Amino acid sequence: MTHPKKPDVFVTRKLPAPVEARMQELFSVTLNRDDRPLSRDELADAMARADVLVPTLTDRIDKDLIEKAGPRLKLIASFSNGVDNVDVNAAARKGITVTNTPNVLTEDTADMTMALVLAVPRRLAEGARFLSRAEPGEWQGWSPTWMLGRRIWGKRIGIVGMGRIGTAVGRRAKAFGLSVNYHNRGRISPETEAELEATYWDSLDQMLARVDIVSVNCPSTPATYHLISARRLQLMRPEAYIVNTSRGDVIDEEALIKCLEEDRIAGAGLDVFENEPDVNPRLLELAKKGKAVLLPHMGSATLESRIDMGDKVIINIRTFFDGHRPPNRVLP
Ligand code: DGY
Repeated sequence: MTHPKKPDVFVTRKLPAPVEARMQELFSVTLNRDDRPLSRDELADAMARADVLVPTLTDRIDKDLIEKAGPRLKLIASFSNGVDNVDVNAAARKGITVTNTPNVLTEDTADMTMALVLAVPRRLAEGARFLSRAEPGEWQGWSPTWMLGRRIWGKRIGIVGMGRIGTAVGRRAKAFGLSVNYHNRGRISPETEAELEATYWDSLDQMLARVDIVSVNCPSTPATYHLISARRLQLMRPEAYIVNTSRGDVIDEEALIKCLEEDRIAGAGLDVFENEPDVNPRLLELAKKGKAVLLPHMGSATLESRIDMGDKVIINIRTFFDGHRPPNRVLP
């Protein structure tokens, strides 16, 4: 009996060891042992030869690269939830299927969002930084007026994008005594709305003007590019905070920086940036001044999430080569 040839799978970044081991059992796989982001030429070369490309969000798989892909490339099985880095339309035109890894990073990303919702108003990063840099005896002890932040309990959160992650943020926010507000393309189910005691705002502008903490949880698409624009940032209350664990380009970062520098809003917690991995130096300055808490895109950074993401990639590849529709196909 002849065995079908294993698909040639090219993985662009180092993945957790159990995922790589399983891939090696199942596929003819090329791994990136040094975890170095690949150049455009290296990506083009991989796409010319492989049956499957497994990129991550650090690889920009644009129209040009897709159009030049070799005839063997049939599947782009992204190791990511968001696929804003892949030109899904160009892939469809070329007959290449695209898949992603949804659901498995929802809770971890929601945890990190909530961590920022707490960290920014409660000055957690400033406090931790103070002690991590303190000389013995430098801390003079508790003081009634030192390191005062703002209370979370009883405040209003406004979630922009009430998909899986937004809803998981809503659950956490409710447990922390925040009243849940949301803006979304459509309303969530009446059951979930009731569970969260959530208020739906058809008008994003009106919600932004009303809430104390804005949490950005919508994907990056052409429609959400700079959704939180300079004009919309002006609508926020001066005591309000904004948190983003989605994608940097949903917020007009330049406008946000200006707002923070001019004290027109109280602070920001950002896990994502417009030009990752470059972080605007003015944001780094704002972080030093306690106006921003910045994280290096850590929303899904747990071993569990990353292994589950790898499992999804594997299932998508296997299903595809078994001749079925992969479970996490992304439609253009
Ligand atoms: C994703 O996969 O889209 C996440 O941003 C990774 O953290």
